This record gives sequence, C-alpha cells and structure tokens, in this order.
Amino acid sequence: MPAFVGAIDQGTSTSRFLIFDDQGRIVTSHQVEFEQHYPNPGWVEHDPYDLIDSAKTCIEHAVRKFEDLGNDVSQIKAIGITNQRETAVVWDRHTGKPLGPAIVWSDSRTAETVKQLSEKSDKGIDAIKDICGLPLRTYFSGVKLRWMLDHNPHVQAAHDEGRLLFGTVDSWLIYNLTGGSKNGGLHVTDVTNASRTMLMDIHSLKWSQDVLSFFGFNPDILPRIVSSSEVYGNIHEGSLSGVPIAGCLGDQQAALVGQKCFQAGDAKNTYGTGCFMLFNTGDEPVISKNGLLTTVGYQFGTNKPAYALEGSIAVAGSSIQFLRDNLKMIKTASDVNTLASAVKDTAGVYFVTAFTGLFAPYWRDDARGTICGMTQFTTREHIARATLEASCYQTKAILDAMNADSGRPLKTLKVDGGMTNSDLCMQIQADILGINVDRPQMRETTGLGSAIAAGFAVGIWQDFEQLQNINSEDHTIFTPKISQEERNAKIKGWEQAVERSFGWANS
Ligand code: G3P
Repeated sequence: MPAFVGAIDQGTSTSRFLIFDDQGRIVTSHQVEFEQHYPNPGWVEHDPYDLIDSAKTCIEHAVRKFEDLGNDVSQIKAIGITNQRETAVVWDRHTGKPLGPAIVWSDSRTAETVKQLSEKSDKGIDAIKDICGLPLRTYFSGVKLRWMLDHNPHVQAAHDEGRLLFGTVDSWLIYNLTGGSKNGGLHVTDVTNASRTMLMDIHSLKWSQDVLSFFGFNPDILPRIVSSSEVYGNIHEGSLSGVPIAGCLGDQQAALVGQKCFQAGDAKNTYGTGCFMLFNTGDEPVISKNGLLTTVGYQFGTNKPAYALEGSIAVAGSSIQFLRDNLKMIKTASDVNTLASAVKDTAGVYFVTAFTGLFAPYWRDDARGTICGMTQFTTREHIARATLEASCYQTKAILDAMNADSGRPLKTLKVDGGMTNSDLCMQIQADILGINVDRPQMRETTGLGSAIAAGFAVGIWQDFEQLQNINSEDHTIFTPKISQEERNAKIKGWEQAVERSFGWANS
C-alpha cells in the first residue's frame, strides 16, 4: 500500500494539516483561520490553546477526507511540523497550562526591553550577534521572554520555582501532541526554531550559557534541541495516535526545503502573513553586513547543518487582511487583486505597511504604516495596488542586501505563499526586482518541506537527489517588463515613503 506523510503547518493566521503522497503531491488538506488579538497598538497575541486546538481540528478533518478517498490511516507513516517562528509561549511544567498569551513574532512591545539589553554592551544591538547570528530586535523570542518575566509575576515566579517551560510554537505543539503534562509530553525544539530565539550558539547548535546569563534565564526552562529530521516521539491521541512526529522546521526554513534549495546559492521568498527571503549559504554561517539575519536552514539527522541568510518583512499578507478587516475595503482577500488590476499603476501612491515597525533591511521599531502621494485622483484601486507593491519593494531592498552579502547576484527568485496566487503581484515583483520570478504550480512548499523532513526520517525518501523531481513541473516564470529607468524612479519614490514612515511609534 502506498505511503503518505502528514504536515501540520501552524502559521500566523491559519493552521493547516496536509497529507502528501510519496511524490510530494497533496492528497488532501484542511485549514482553519484562528483569532488574532491586538490588545494595544503594536501588540499581537495568540491564545496558545487556539494554536494546538486548531492544529488538532485540522488533523481530524483532513484524516476523515483522506479516508473518504479510500485510504487507510495506517498509510500515514509520519508527520512533520512547521510553524510560525519566534512566537513565544510559556507554560507550567506541572499543569501544562499556559502562563499568559503567546507573544507573536511581529509584536513590537519589547522596544524598551531591546534598548535596555543593548545598553548592557559596547556593541549595542550587536551585543550577542557573534554567538547567535541575530541583532537585538523586538522580533526574537528571547527578548519576548525577557519582557514576560519583567511584566508577568506568574511567569517570573514559575521561572524562579523551576516550574516554567518556554518554547516556540513547535515546542508547544509537540509537547501537547505527545501527551502534555499528564502523559510525558516531550519538551523539544528543532535547530531552525532554536536559531530564532537568540539563545542558541549558531556555531555549536547548543544553548549558549553566555547568552542565557545575558538575558538572566535559567537553562531548565529550555527545550532540548533536536535536528529537523528524526523521530522525536509519537502522537498520543486522536486519529493519528501512535504516528511518529519525525520532522520539524520553522516555516520559512521548511519552505527552503520544500523549494529544494539544497545548494549554496539557492534562494526562495515566501509571501505569507509576513514575507521571508532565505538564501542557502552552505555549511558555514555567514554574518551579514547589510541588515540580514544568520539562521539555520535545516539539519537532517546527524548530517551537517545548512545555514541561510534571511531577509524578513513583517507585513505582507497581513496588509491584505488589514484592507479587509480594518478598512473594510474588500470582502475577501482575493478581491485586492480585482481592485489593483483595475488601474494601470498606483498614480504615485506608496503604502509603507509598517504596522509594527519595519524589519530587514531597515530595522526601525519606530516606523508605522504610512500612505504617501495621495491626490484627489486617488481611489481605493490605487491603494489596493500600493498595498501589493509594498511587499514587492521590501523584497527588492532585501534582494539588494542579499546580493551585497553573498557577492553572487540572484538571477531568478523562487517564490511561494498566498500572495503569489496573484499573477499581478508576481508581475509587479519581477518588474521591481528586474529579475525573473519563478512560481511553482503547487505552492504549499512550507508543508511539503516539513513532510520531506519527516519522510526522510522514516525512510520514504533517502537522498536529496530523489526529491529533485518533486513539484518540478508546471512552473510559471514572470519576466521583468519595465525599463531600468522606470524601475529606478519607482524605487526612489518608495525610499522617500519609507523615510516618512519613521518616528511615529514614540511620538
Ligand atoms: O518569522 C515569522 C514567520 O515564521 C511567520 O511566517 O508564514 O506566518 O508569515 P508566516
């Protein structure tokens, strides 16, 4: 009987469970959107129970659909997990209960914490960058955990009494799926997720005692670091009870694997809630001089890890949710495309979607959403188009930084994620970048990446060569159609708009 692999994709806006066959084709899937909480300006929270419950709901629905197609659940040999990264969860080791809301990766409440921490070192925000590959920023989990200890007495008490468990979303999911506090749930995290906490030494792939002392954290709160592809444990209950969890990667690293960027020099850009470009730098970490992050790309079993340079954009798909939920400009996300297609350009309008600051390569906590260049000619169609363009301009800024750091300019950008469904957006992207944009037909590369990791661990695939045929047909290539002069003029306008978005958070 053919073998299948499942993948939980726990993203910022949705949870999904996908079931892949041994050719990497999706057999069935289920998706649930869960609630975002914005209790204060710049704050973003999730209820930890929503994360695990929505993942479990997706598993149950997808397995029912799988069986309805005539398959047997015993054919699912393993599952992989991929997740929104950096989002910090804390819970009590005795009860398994969360000690507060999860602070989401894009939340910028920790600006003051970052300031205080950077004042501890002459190197400022680069205080621990040589160890962990990351600058001190609101983005990363360690800073969020410091904020929780400083502001939530229950978390501080649990820390001091040895009851606190900390984890990114992968840890929280695996802990609960393998039995939780009552049935020996595993407290683990994979190297890619660990590389987003700031607490791991990027060279040794172990927690750094120096960094833990810098933050003031006890080591007993941390999960055990495991590779991205090995059997961690089995699912404790539900229709997949007994199935091994055998793959785990942060979602952007999973997309790197799903796009089969296995060679140094391969890169991909994923347009999800945010947008993230990762560039495989091979088995040595490269420290950026241009505002990019050094991160672990993947590590399969005991093999050497692959490292990556990353350019992170905080807002991409969430800007379309903003048009839908906050401005009520559209009813469904795909309506943005209809609106944006109705005009030939933005008529000079730029929308810097810096709702919680700007990430790479600008790194400005104080930036806020800014619309520039409006006249009485401006319509919602122009604003819709400017919203799509915002992710494309930020991608251009990241590509320039990536080219400068790597010294080998990219000729084609592999893309995936929700916004790539828009042909218009991808054409704009190719126009602004001035290079080809390559979009696969099957765009669930995040789920595929974690399924590949799990499939490897249980022997469904044995080497990367075998994977090259997976999802390799039916690609669309978008080629640039505007002149360099026009491109330069547009980018200049964007840069001016970015300048104007600075300084609002503290005023
Ligand atoms: O670093 C944050 C990232 O993992 C979120 O991914 O797909 O939810 O935008 P996504």
